[in-house]
Amino acid sequence: MKGVLLHGGFGTRLRPLTHTGPKQMIRVAGKPVSQWALEDLRDSGVREIAIILGELAPERVVEFYGDGRWLAMKLTYIYQGYPYGLAHAVYLARDFVGDDPFVVYLGDNILVEGISGYVKRFLDGDADAMILLTEVPEPQRFGVAEFDEEGRLKRLVEKPKVPPSNYALVGVYFFRPPHIFKVIEGLKPSWRGELEITDAIQGLIDRGLKVDYAIVEGWWKDTGTPEDILEANRLLLDYKYREAVVKSEVEDDVSIEGRVYIDDGAVIKAGSVVRGPTYIGKNTVVGPNTYIGPYTSVGNNCRIVNVEIENSVVMDNVVLKDVGERIIDSLIGSGAKITHGEDKPRGVRFIVGEQTVVKL
Ligand code: TTP
Repeated sequence: MKGVLLHGGFGTRLRPLTHTGPKQMIRVAGKPVSQWALEDLRDSGVREIAIILGELAPERVVEFYGDGRWLAMKLTYIYQGYPYGLAHAVYLARDFVGDDPFVVYLGDNILVEGISGYVKRFLDGDADAMILLTEVPEPQRFGVAEFDEEGRLKRLVEKPKVPPSNYALVGVYFFRPPHIFKVIEGLKPSWRGELEITDAIQGLIDRGLKVDYAIVEGWWKDTGTPEDILEANRLLLDYKYREAVVKSEVEDDVSIEGRVYIDDGAVIKAGSVVRGPTYIGKNTVVGPNTYIGPYTSVGNNCRIVNVEIENSVVMDNVVLKDVGERIIDSLIGSGAKITHGEDKPRGVRFIVGEQTVVKL
């Protein structure tokens, strides 16, 4: 089985974090979101993957993943550019896929328990497509499934005002060529100008082809908004870091509590408390006198000095120093600096990018 990882899109809801790169590269619990997806594919036996690139700094994706050998995978890149829709992105992979069954994975989706069971089920069966569904509290926000009396999939509706069920489409889809590509060729753009994957799957159902579904019981998260990123971070820290790992230097008078993962080259200085589940990135300096609270991920090469922070995601090369107030529920983008000024007149000084949110 081959894989197609969607890495395009605009990421509007995550601005300003997505002004400089794709949202799938946002590091959560120590890895870019799309790396968690790629590793899930690999661990499910899908090692040959095409990554579909968008307009936002695609070169950063290629530079980071390369040919994929370091992940024990074989990666190919296909440039989509403007996001004309998920079905458009899938269609671009038709030559790569050839006659093989394939799985499409949205690069901003996280399934903490992985897809290996579904890969096996699809390969063992004879369906033309298989979708994954999960029960959600607000189906209006998603593509939603409607079933007939026998529980067979009847219809898919995109963001319905009156949802026919509470089962939403998860961002992982399985297909057997060639029907899916034929249906996409006949699709018209939706009201939002995109070729919709829900319309493509509906096209398969309407042609009487076999579309199977499976219900995802474990945690699934689509990381489209800042709140989603914080939740994905909590989930991943909980599921993926099951024990404390300290790979680097911890000074005396430091308290490390619970499942704390401290990566290579990081330093925890005196007077600091690090309480898990927490991830501290490579070569990051924490302290002196710093509190890193539960559900916090700090990226690589950061300096966190005399600061209290919890339930937050801090990306790479960030400086937080003498902030004064505890930082909570925050997303701090790469290269950001938050410090306490000693200058007169006293006050708070900001140099913040477009669509930044600051709550004091
Ligand atoms: P979305 O989250 O629906 O789209 P987006 O990235 O444009 O986000 P926003 O609404 O905040 O602007 O996309 C789902 C996933 O599919 C995401 O990983 C991006 C990817 N994608 C593509 O690769 N190509 C596309 O044409 C589209 C629409 C999305």
